[in-house]
Amino acid sequence: MQQAYRQAGQTSVATASKAPFREREQPPAEVVIQSLLRLPQLVKIHQPNNKIFADNLSVFRKALARIWEERTVFGLRAHRGRLYLDSQKLAIPQGPVAVTAAKLMDFLERRGFYGFTFSRRENLTDADVVEFIRALNRSQGQENPAEWLKGELAGSWAAPITDPDFKIAFVFKEDAEGGKTHGRPVVWNAGTRTLAVKARKSYSRAMAVLTAVETKLKEGGAVSIAKSRRVVQDMVETLFEDERLLLNLSTIRDYDDYTCTHSVNVAILSMCLGRRLGLSRVAVATLGLSGLFHDLGKVDIPISLIRKTARFTPEEYEEVKNHSLFSVARIIQINAEHKFKTRLLQAPFEHHLGVDLGGYPNSELNPPLSLFGRIVAIADHYDALTSSRSYRPVPMNPEQALDIMTSSAGKSLDPLLLKVFINMVGIYPIGTLLILDTKEVAMVAETPPDAEDARPMAYLLDKKGQDIVRGELVDISERDEKGRFVRNILRCFHPSDFGLNASDILL
Ligand SMILES: [Fe+2]
Ligand SMILES: [Fe+2]
Repeated sequence: MQQAYRQAGQTSVATASKAPFREREQPPAEVVIQSLLRLPQLVKIHQPNNKIFADNLSVFRKALARIWEERTVFGLRAHRGRLYLDSQKLAIPQGPVAVTAAKLMDFLERRGFYGFTFSRRENLTDADVVEFIRALNRSQGQENPAEWLKGELAGSWAAPITDPDFKIAFVFKEDAEGGKTHGRPVVWNAGTRTLAVKARKSYSRAMAVLTAVETKLKEGGAVSIAKSRRVVQDMVETLFEDERLLLNLSTIRDYDDYTCTHSVNVAILSMCLGRRLGLSRVAVATLGLSGLFHDLGKVDIPISLIRKTARFTPEEYEEVKNHSLFSVARIIQINAEHKFKTRLLQAPFEHHLGVDLGGYPNSELNPPLSLFGRIVAIADHYDALTSSRSYRPVPMNPEQALDIMTSSAGKSLDPLLLKVFINMVGIYPIGTLLILDTKEVAMVAETPPDAEDARPMAYLLDKKGQDIVRGELVDISERDEKGRFVRNILRCFHPSDFGLNASDILL
């Protein structure tokens, strides 16, 4: 079979042009991608018995057969600008293959579907494959190519993926040598992926909406609250469906704009904590908006101070401290019902005040801090400590951050809410990189509520070509027959320490 694999790759190059020498063995998935673009073109100009067409067809079939050795059905799917073979992201090298992959994604997008599933059939004939290729071509002229093709290919060996909730039942982990499979199936929950896409979209939209609000405020224009409300509402929907997903988005930051990212993260973390405390959807949405606007007053602080990498002078610090009051003033300027706006003001005013009222702004009043104020303060602290900032380019890992926050319990932070928060983000929040005593590196995938010593579930990281990919999902609390832990955590890191984006690996 190895021979067939080699042939599949080499023949495809040979028939495409004059065979350049290719050192790299072309994986069958790449051959399938190329064939899906090439065959529909060739069938337009050649009869199926033409040699060029027949050769290309054979290359396509050999590549399919190669993949079918490992599974009886597989999906080739475009997702967020990348191609996946089942749930495995394809490592497409730069160069002509990347161009072909991009063309295929464009091809799919124009027809309104997400990819194909190919099912192994023992009696598959060349004619069946030609029929599929021709149907692909004919779909182009239809009003709804995806639906048309779905009907046309009903019951066939090949089918378009038209459902965003498409689910391939099993994927298989590759072993260290690559290629061969273990029989360990992992269910790929594509439904969660869809929700993840929705959550990521809300995140980017929140960033965009907040940037627009800040810009308009600076220019002195009228700002409506409608868009901000909508984007927060979307996040609330996701939160009540899957808390982890939204929480992950706030801890796996891969965006550059610090102030904006920080505000969106504070909104998310506050909403998650609010939900844990049993607040209603309406209250959680108000809390989220309040978190989103907590640092809005920074638009009135000179940018040189916001970006300053050295310590503030006492005068500069006094100036920066004004931002909580400025936030209140800026929120008042936003167009919204007065009653609604008043509910947004307290948390921004209080977020640096501290439960012991020892922070700022100085106030003659002595009221206890509001619930929203206490929640936003915790979210604000945590995000500030765990993200890189101009004066601290290396972010703290969550363990250190939670440690520091615990020492502030009862002073600046509410001790009870902090406990709930620590429970929520876990000692090893999702996305944390773990160095294990087995010399393995893993990325935290989840911390079950009943985990022993908060030992999480984590994906071991594998190397595939140039890419780091997720491998086996392991339970760090697993013990051997003598009762000893199989794996122990030696150190934990922020993924950015290794130039990794947790979102690339986990989502
Ligand atoms: Fe602040
Ligand atoms: Fe803040």
